[in-house]
Amino acid sequence: MFDRLKREIAFIRANDPAAGSIPEILMLYPGYKAVRRHRISHWLFKHKHTFLARYLSERTKRITGVEIHPGAQIGDCLFIDHGMGVVIGETTIIGNNCVIYQGATLGGTGKEKGKRHPTLGDNIMVGAGAKILGSVTIGNGAKIAAGAVVVRDVPPGSTAIGIPATIRMPANVHY
Ligand SMILES: CC(C)(COP(=O)(O)OP(=O)(O)OC[C@H]1O[C@@H](n2cnc3c(N)ncnc32)[C@H](O)[C@@H]1OP(=O)(O)O)[C@@H](O)C(=O)NCCC(=O)NCCS
Repeated sequence: MFDRLKREIAFIRANDPAAGSIPEILMLYPGYKAVRRHRISHWLFKHKHTFLARYLSERTKRITGVEIHPGAQIGDCLFIDHGMGVVIGETTIIGNNCVIYQGATLGGTGKEKGKRHPTLGDNIMVGAGAKILGSVTIGNGAKIAAGAVVVRDVPPGSTAIGIPATIRMPANVHY
């Protein structure tokens, strides 16, 4: 558990030049608080304590402005910077070392049942206000631009920009 805390704090420091002392990061980063509380609500959800799980995630939303459904599966070192307005749906899966900025939604289109939220790989950045909708897959290392609306898969290493998002690959990568 302490190893995880150390990794998460190091990841936050690596991604936020404004990050200060450990108490500051532990107590004053609402996105990080939301992720830590989500781990408890996810455990409750998996062990069929659905009401308690939802209760905890609702309380967390009120405290942090971040809404993560207890069913969402989140890997190591998710950094939600600023926090306010982030929504992460029930069947979302997020890999390791991802950064999500304020106002981003990992949500459904309203047309799918079952697995209806995005799957993110590792090392992904989701910009402020971006919306990723539906059971789409975002490949490792992809970036989703601030304000983009993504409704299709995004290849690894690419950047999705605009509404609806178009894909830009780095010049030396062909997909
Ligand atoms: C998309 C982003 C990741 C940059 O990726 P990049 O691959 O380095 O892209 P570039 O900066 O080279 O820009 C590529 C093009 O997209 C445009 N662009 C960049 N970000 C954009 C955005 N969010 N929306 C629309 N267009 C954007 C650029 O103007 C440029 O256009 P051009 O080719 O016509 O000149 C970055 O601009 C971004 O949106 N980051 C989000 C960070 C964030 O949310 N921060 C919040 C902190 S509080």
